[in-house]
Amino acid sequence: MLCQDWPEPITRVQTLSESGITSIPECYIKPESQRPTNPISSNKASSNDEDINIPIIDMQNLYGGDERLREAALRRMSEACREWGFFQVVNHGVSHELIKSVREAWLEFFNQPIEVKEVYANLPNTYEGYGSRLGVKKGAILDWSDYFFLHYMPSSLKDQSKWPSFPTSLRNTIDDYSKEVVKLGGKILELMSLNLGLSQDYLLNAFGGESGLGACLRVNFYPKCPQPDLTLGLSSHSDPGGMTLLLPDDSVSGLQVRKGEDWITVKHVPNAFLINIADQIQIMSNAIYKSVDHRVIVNPNKERLSLAMFYNPNGNLLIQPAKELVTKERPALYSPMTFNEYRLYIRTMGLKGKAQLVESSTSQI
Ligand code: OGA
Ligand code: NI
Repeated sequence: MLCQDWPEPITRVQTLSESGITSIPECYIKPESQRPTNPISSNKASSNDEDINIPIIDMQNLYGGDERLREAALRRMSEACREWGFFQVVNHGVSHELIKSVREAWLEFFNQPIEVKEVYANLPNTYEGYGSRLGVKKGAILDWSDYFFLHYMPSSLKDQSKWPSFPTSLRNTIDDYSKEVVKLGGKILELMSLNLGLSQDYLLNAFGGESGLGACLRVNFYPKCPQPDLTLGLSSHSDPGGMTLLLPDDSVSGLQVRKGEDWITVKHVPNAFLINIADQIQIMSNAIYKSVDHRVIVNPNKERLSLAMFYNPNGNLLIQPAKELVTKERPALYSPMTFNEYRLYIRTMGLKGKAQLVESSTSQI
């Protein structure tokens, strides 16, 4: 692969934010239609409705031994996957102590002097490391965030020398955390498989099994922003992989999920994981489950940290709708394609390519 560099010198958003500027550089100013103060519909009341929130699933009900509670929780999850593409899980089995340690360790990393972080500066060929932009289009409008991206699985891609060595506990903490989150991901795949009427191990096998699946972590850092109405921490997107297990910030909200014509700000339950369907599960489920657009807004007074674990199919396997979900009434909406091909396709075609692949097919039903 070509060792491609960024098209322009990289500015760290955190450095910019800490410099005390009162107006943001032009390259972060979004077109009016994308700004957070411009709701995409006039139906403003519903997006602020107190009662609207991403469904919450108590995982204790799924494993507690009470069949009625289990059925109800499974139904709730099924509805969430079809209608929202998002749900939150509580009592998920990942220790709250571990969650606290991983957050603290990453905050400590981002609060290191810039020279320490620049050692890990990333390039667009793999994105691994410390980054401040996605995409290589010169003159692109950028998001108000920095991040750290690393591979945890498959083991052939895991390279701990590319993970921060400071704070000294961080590499071990990332390992412990990722192991637990991947385990949780496996349980959720089983529940989704059952809910789709497939065998319990269907999705995990389609992802390449425990040794073949991919898992990468993107730690997002959203610095304070003096003009939050003009920009976004992360532009609207759907996640390209299989499923995302997101640990949002417990004290600062910011994630918005598209619901019809509205953007709903997620009210996050402390220590819960937010799970979302990504493009490859939409494809495997023949669009019964939806990979829904989401974005992040920023805050003038508070920085925000989130950890997104992308749980992905093996890059070399053909991904296609499960045969059981293809019928005469609902023919296959997607042609087989590996996840590596898909990534390349959306990288070269940009969002337009993705829209052609994903949205045109969902609009048929
Ligand atoms: C992502 C993402 C949301 C957040 O990393 O893909 O959507 O709250 N993150 O940081
Ligand atoms: Ni996302």
